[in-house]
Amino acid sequence: MKIAIGADHAGYRLKDVIVPYLQSLGHELMDVGCDCDVSVDYSDYSIPVCEKVVNGEAERGILICGTGIGMSIAANKTRGIRCALVHDMFTAKATREHNDTNVLAMGERIIGPGVAQEIVRIWLETPFSHAERHQNRINKVMAIEASQASQA
Ligand code: RB5
Repeated sequence: MKIAIGADHAGYRLKDVIVPYLQSLGHELMDVGCDCDVSVDYSDYSIPVCEKVVNGEAERGILICGTGIGMSIAANKTRGIRCALVHDMFTAKATREHNDTNVLAMGERIIGPGVAQEIVRIWLETPFSHAERHQNRINKVMAIEASQASQA
């Protein structure tokens, strides 16, 4: 799978664990940075990842900051992105089955590398359930995006 990944200064160390892990599973990673401790703004890294997902260059996106909160808020401003902030295996699976999320956010300050690796593996492997009730709910969320975009 083609996966875009980005992090801020508080998340790049975890990104540098996740990238080789996913490559070892056969995935193709597009790493947009950052790569050092210099303080940066998480939205500067969420935008290129989300753009790659929306324009089809990447099938999924992964974003990491200190808490994952800033990255998830920023990602969900991009039309077509459904980003979930995940720190456990149950919600990693549930957000794919129920929400068909295309971007995953995590916080390097919240979880360790072992849990993060399991989360990304489960999140990438779990298909959307295609249950009608879940699809209807996603359609309603997408309708909100479309109506707000037309008012802008
Ligand atoms: C950086 O200190 C931190 O605020 C950022 O990585 C993220 O946790 C914000 O939500």
